[in-house]
Amino acid sequence: MFAVPPNTVALPSQRATSHPALIAREYAADRDRWRHLLRYDPRERWSALIDRTEDHEVWLLSWLPGQHTDLHDHGGAAGALTVVSGTLTERVARVEPDGRPALVLHQVAIGQSRVFGPNHVHRVSNDGADPAVSVHVYRPARHTMTPYRFDPARGPVPQRGTGGARDQ
Ligand SMILES: [Fe+2]
Repeated sequence: MFAVPPNTVALPSQRATSHPALIAREYAADRDRWRHLLRYDPRERWSALIDRTEDHEVWLLSWLPGQHTDLHDHGGAAGALTVVSGTLTERVARVEPDGRPALVLHQVAIGQSRVFGPNHVHRVSNDGADPAVSVHVYRPARHTMTPYRFDPARGPVPQRGTGGARDQ
């Protein structure tokens, strides 16, 4: 019989310890889990919840050309997105270490992922000519978001009173 050291840590389930990017890639690759949910909405960006656990939630989004989010945070949630088809453009609003506001652009192509921490503020859009589909993971689940505007002098500025939506 083995003695268990007093500082032994019981790890939670494997899924709970998986990085959000790994979860997003896993769902992105497993189309049978979400293909029946997929829709395109010509009026606005479309989304559907694929899965929710105590730890995180997984969303499917579709983006017709020109569709986009506004600038937003994720209410303190961290997460990741993986592009399944098309190309998405992410603009990250932040203040650089030297105090300079910046809007940093990332192109996210098929199979690529972007990871974000709890203070991440971004705008995501489909600037391409083809529809795009993406899988997004948020941890913890049931987050809310706050919209922001980008002030060239101050950087991202929360627009309190207009947020609270649960969206991506
Ligand atoms: Fe987002």
